[in-house]
Amino acid sequence: MKKILGNVVSGSLTDGFIIRIHPNTHLEDIKTGKFVSIVGKQYTFFSLITDLKLEVTHPDILLFPPTPHEKLLSNLLKQRDIYVTATLKPMLMLNKENTPSPVKTIPPHFAHVYEATQKDVALIFGDESDQSKRYFNIGHPLDMNTPVCINLEKLTERSNGIFGKTGTGKTFLTRLILAGLIKNEKAVNLIFDMHSEYGLQARKEGNQQSFVKGLKTLFPSRVTIFSLDPASTRRRGGCADVDIILTYQEVHVEDILSLQDELNLHTTAIESAYLIAAQYKKDWLQVLLTQGDNLKDFAQSIRAHPESIAALYRQIKRIERLPFFKPKTTGAYTTVIDQMMEYIDKDINIIIEFGNFTSTFTYLLIANIITRRIHSEYVTKTEKFLGSQKKEDEPKKLMITIEEAHKFLNPQAARQTIFGVIAREMRKYYVSLLVVDQRPSGIDQEIISQIGTKIVAQLNDEKDIQAVLTGINNASSLRSILASLDSKKQVLLLGHAMTMPVVIQTREYDEKFYHAMGNTVTTKQINEFIEELF
Ligand SMILES: Nc1ncnc2c1ncn2[C@@H]1O[C@H](COP(=O)(O)OP(=O)(O)OP(=O)(O)O)[C@@H](O)[C@H]1O
Ligand SMILES: [Mg+2]
Repeated sequence: MKKILGNVVSGSLTDGFIIRIHPNTHLEDIKTGKFVSIVGKQYTFFSLITDLKLEVTHPDILLFPPTPHEKLLSNLLKQRDIYVTATLKPMLMLNKENTPSPVKTIPPHFAHVYEATQKDVALIFGDESDQSKRYFNIGHPLDMNTPVCINLEKLTERSNGIFGKTGTGKTFLTRLILAGLIKNEKAVNLIFDMHSEYGLQARKEGNQQSFVKGLKTLFPSRVTIFSLDPASTRRRGGCADVDIILTYQEVHVEDILSLQDELNLHTTAIESAYLIAAQYKKDWLQVLLTQGDNLKDFAQSIRAHPESIAALYRQIKRIERLPFFKPKTTGAYTTVIDQMMEYIDKDINIIIEFGNFTSTFTYLLIANIITRRIHSEYVTKTEKFLGSQKKEDEPKKLMITIEEAHKFLNPQAARQTIFGVIAREMRKYYVSLLVVDQRPSGIDQEIISQIGTKIVAQLNDEKDIQAVLTGINNASSLRSILASLDSKKQVLLLGHAMTMPVVIQTREYDEKFYHAMGNTVTTKQINEFIEELF
């Protein structure tokens, strides 16, 4: 039975509709972000409530409010003189055959407005049991229990972003979506896991110390862990499948471009790096690092400014402290990147764990080196496919997950680094990004406007709110929805992979979820196992 909420009384396509809330409706059950339908003659308009307002027919009434004992008066006023209006933002309309289309017309005066039903939600957002495995349940609308699904196929067609301030549940939601992509085999994932939260298990905030399962634990045969710090991975009760070892020859000058801010490097220092590379090619870093006592002569030999070379040397020397850089070996040698490509080709997802190397320096450096190489492999693969046009040559879609994305995609870095390239070239080479960030205002505007699907949790800073709403029509109505999100586990979903924008309570990442993913070892067993280890 549909529950009526009110009737349309005014409004416009651009500003949204004003409805008068039915006097018998429990006012406090109606919240911004609620999902409702307006039933017109030919179309049903699906909308979100964006604002609520108290109204009165005559201002004098407000001068003489009924006392708590004057129940009759109060009820009478409610029937005619005092009322509530809600502003609705129409997002999508369905015709009688249930074909969705953008909203181009308006419902008539007094059209009835209902709470959306389970059937509506399934009709609009798809059904998880669909054969195509393209729909994945990521939560439910506020005050409703029906799953809202994201279209995983569309998700992998563009780069996407998950934004929200700290503790809102971004990492949990990212893990949830990645689990969906892995289970339904819609993309291979490469995850830069700075805080070791994706692989084996992750800490869950709460009164009690508890852990949730990571992706490797959920899908042991579909995920590999590449670790920079195998000892740390072992301490957390697992074993890295591959230890990452890199050589200085694998570091290109481009890889240190995004470190410019972090290392406080002047552009002249970067220019000197290019000068070294022009002469020594791949060995540029190794050569530079051996010039400790000889920097002046070295600078002269490559016609660089001695001070720039000295500054570059001082900063880049930090690299020598990273134990996973080893000297170049001669002869046949499979690089870590080659190994990664082998896994990707077999459809196996890769988590790169940083263990105790949690400095931004390491994170940026490693993510740049690996992504640049993998991307270039993908360019080659795509070109091969375009040449042969054989189905078996078609590369698998790859999605790269990065946390703290503003560090890679700030306006300066986005112009020069591989992450900017990937975000801008869209999915031309089958590679896309899943960026996770607390500070979207730090990301280059152009990149943000290229983002296909945005998943936005609570944000307090006005600049951040403005940044996520860049390039969205009628952003002002979504702004009020954003402002009213809970501080945890509530997000606004909008963009390419969603039929219409919607606010959801995110799916619980728990035992029931593991079961749905086909994994049945209980968290209790995992916790006991971990306790035994310590
Ligand atoms: N879907 C969920 N299921 C269960 N618990 C959740 C979920 N989302 C969030 N939580 C709870 O909220 C806490 C914070 O979530 P999370 O670590 O994902 O935040 P975050 O946005 O990534 O924060 P930060 O920006 O600091 O990394 C988790 O430890 C967990 O207790
Ligand atoms: Mg997080």
